Amino acid sequence: MDFCADFHFIVIHFCVLVRLVKVQKIDRRVAWVRVDTQTILSIHHNVITQNPRISLSYNDHRSWYLHIKNVQEVDRGWYMCQVNTDPMRSRQGYLQVVVPPSIIDRETSSDMVVLESTNVSLTCKATGYPDPYVMWRREDGDDIRYNGENVNVVDGEILFITKVSRLHMGVYLCIASNGVPPSISKRVQLKVQFPPMLSIPNQLEGAYIGQDVALECHTEAFPTSINYWTTDRGDMIISGSDKYEAVSMDSGYKKYMMLKIRKVHKNDFGSYRCVAKNSLGETDGVIKLEEIPAPTTMKSIILQTSSSQFKKGTAGDDRRDYDANSEKKFDDSRISAEYDYDGEYTLPSNGPPPIDQPPTMQSGSSSPSVRGATLIICILCCINLIHHPLRYVVYRWVDI
Ligand SMILES: *[C@@H]1O[C@H](CO)[C@@H](O)[C@H](O)[C@H]1NC(C)=O
Repeated sequence: MDFCADFHFIVIHFCVLVRLVKVQKIDRRVAWVRVDTQTILSIHHNVITQNPRISLSYNDHRSWYLHIKNVQEVDRGWYMCQVNTDPMRSRQGYLQVVVPPSIIDRETSSDMVVLESTNVSLTCKATGYPDPYVMWRREDGDDIRYNGENVNVVDGEILFITKVSRLHMGVYLCIASNGVPPSISKRVQLKVQFPPMLSIPNQLEGAYIGQDVALECHTEAFPTSINYWTTDRGDMIISGSDKYEAVSMDSGYKKYMMLKIRKVHKNDFGSYRCVAKNSLGETDGVIKLEEIPAPTTMKSIILQTSSSQFKKGTAGDDRRDYDANSEKKFDDSRISAEYDYDGEYTLPSNGPPPIDQPPTMQSGSSSPSVRGATLIICILCCINLIHHPLRYVVYRWVDI
């Protein structure tokens, strides 16, 4: 049994030990060779290579170890041990070095601010071995409107959005994986700017003298708009008086505005304006407050409300519950109609690519008794490897 009958790799803190045992006659000489580069690494007790990371050890001259410290990608390849029998015996093994993915920051998009309706391209570049698989998705898990479909994940390095809309606003994750943990991701925030838009549920409000009334406006804008109310004459209405209370509620780029007018007086009838302004523009809308007769009997009120545009419930119920209804009345059907989601989406299969198989090797000097032996795959997880990119090393021995 004068050959490399049983060798395997051991990884300890990035040191690879290539072990050869069972050399029957202890005076046999053993050499280690790097096959790819035709380099002799060691002969018997002497390390020949200049590579300071490579060393040699042996026990009782039956077990021989080749040590590779601080394994690098350049160490990937075929290794051979030879025993000087006649004929010479040898065995080869492939050392696979894998590298977890990392994202190349300077080639990857960072946070972006764009105008609505422009084309946007987010790019993500990653390295690692094997080549990483890269995909984009939203951090909040929502679907992305993409090429007319709603998709949860976009495969590839580039996320190209044509005619970006406000619905695309959010945080995106570029995720790179190659089967070598850990996968890595980068956050890219996309902000979409657009001038204010405004919608008014009721442009005509009715109230009788002495009643409390509420006017409502919905706006959308990014950057966030400044919103306020004015009177007919354009005077800004100051909230917090006994007369007026202005309420504003934000939800992302949407705003709900409400102006409450207490104890409506004759002077209060007329037009009110809600205004929204941001750096890209300004818009306003007019709500008319008209007098209606004070309620006398229920019958007259029902007639009144059903034959006019006046909002239901203004009479006979002069304390409306604004807050409870505000969410429901937030009518964005007009604004978002063009983004109706109807596409179907199936998740792409996104498993990591397989680790490349090493090239098969031919050798005329292999021992028949070991040919066809099974592969020994030894995967050992290294510890204490912080700051080192080569977290995992996979070894695959092939008998030849
Ligand atoms: C945006 O992309 C679309 C599709 O590639 C293209 O037809 C259009 O010309 C682009 N628009 C601009 C402003 O670049």
